[in-house]
Amino acid sequence: MTQTSPHPGASSARPASPARRPVVVIGAGPAGLTVGNILRAASVDCLVLETQSRQFIEQRPRAGVLEAGAVRGLRRRGLAVRLLEGAGRHTTCEFRFDGERYRFPYTDMTGHHHYVCPQPLLVKDLVHEYADVRGGDIRFGVRDVTLHDTGTDRPSVSYRCAETGERHLVHCDFVAGCDGARGVSRTALAPAHARIARHDYGIGWLALLAEAPASADCVLFGVHPRGFAGHMPRSAEVSRYYLQCPPGDDPENWPHERVWAELRQRLAAADAPPLQEGRLLEKRVLDMHDYVVEPMASGRLFLAGDAAHLTAPIAAKGMNLALHDAFLLGDALAARLTTGDDRGLSGYSAASLRRVWEYQEFSQWLSDVYHGTASGDPYRAGTTLARLRRLFTSPAAAAAFAEQYLGTSGHP
Ligand code: APR
Repeated sequence: MTQTSPHPGASSARPASPARRPVVVIGAGPAGLTVGNILRAASVDCLVLETQSRQFIEQRPRAGVLEAGAVRGLRRRGLAVRLLEGAGRHTTCEFRFDGERYRFPYTDMTGHHHYVCPQPLLVKDLVHEYADVRGGDIRFGVRDVTLHDTGTDRPSVSYRCAETGERHLVHCDFVAGCDGARGVSRTALAPAHARIARHDYGIGWLALLAEAPASADCVLFGVHPRGFAGHMPRSAEVSRYYLQCPPGDDPENWPHERVWAELRQRLAAADAPPLQEGRLLEKRVLDMHDYVVEPMASGRLFLAGDAAHLTAPIAAKGMNLALHDAFLLGDALAARLTTGDDRGLSGYSAASLRRVWEYQEFSQWLSDVYHGTASGDPYRAGTTLARLRRLFTSPAAAAAFAEQYLGTSGHP
């Protein structure tokens, strides 16, 4: 875990120990920072607690694609405006199966596109806005964050300070649990009031970063009997690839030659230009699984983002869902604390979960498409290919896929 002193401007002039804040936000990822920014814009005081250093969260490589709805939500709240003006756009994807290339030009079909926005750049922008522009209080490198009495109307959060090792107790009205998949907030939900639905795909993805330019002008999805393969252009120097592998596989089982041989086979198609091969900068195995906490709130504790639900990176929905939650929760907390209007908070969990389940369902559908032909089951292989072909023969099927892929279904 990287430990550096907090970035200048963020917390150097802060009071030693805030004893009381209307809201304590746990976690400075896209969800927590967006909630914090919305509260600061409404002149609601809050404290953000983050276990990592500022430098670490501004560089941690994570998700990279934003839906138009998430971008509109950020713009509407004056967040990441300049960053997103200059963001690249994804307009087309290409499926490769049965030795052929099938282009899916979703922007031509729908007028909508994806924005390319690496999570570290978004996080850096949101921290700057929160701490340096809107004057928000954020503590980096905190330890032993513990939630107390969230089932009562007098909750509090305690933590150990990075610099002094001293323990602080902060009383508050509400706690926003935005501490991601490995945080502590989820465990503070009363088990009698919350249930966790889990799904394990039984599939791994070897996530690769290659020091090489893109091999195509768009995202590629290779659906092959040897397993799924994906390609995502990143920059002139670096490209991302994925290879389906057994869950829990050791990246050391995937030396350079094996990786490129598999990518060549799984992404092979008539008239396809050869892959641009290069040194592998990163090799990680991701075990595909999902979970959803229902409800996402209990007493004075409200969860947002990965703290409440995880979607496997199959459909690139995680950061979009985190932001959707944060818009709803930030607005609802601001309304409650400035005007006493409780409607947003009481409807928060149900409103978030509607979209969460919609995206879970799409991830599962897409997982069947990506992994069915390699399942070893000829029946699943046959139905997978029928589904894929339908995308290119039925305008209705194509439109339905594009809506879900772009996140415009039901919420333009
Ligand atoms: N106390 C305080 N902070 C914590 C704690 C804790 N006990 N545990 C974790 N954190 C911090 C993490 O260091 C991280 O900075 O909470 C933050 C959570 O951020 P994310 O994991 O980015 O989660 P979220 O904001 O919900 O965004 C979801 O992140 O995992 C990706 O792809 C996913 O794009 C999605 C997005």
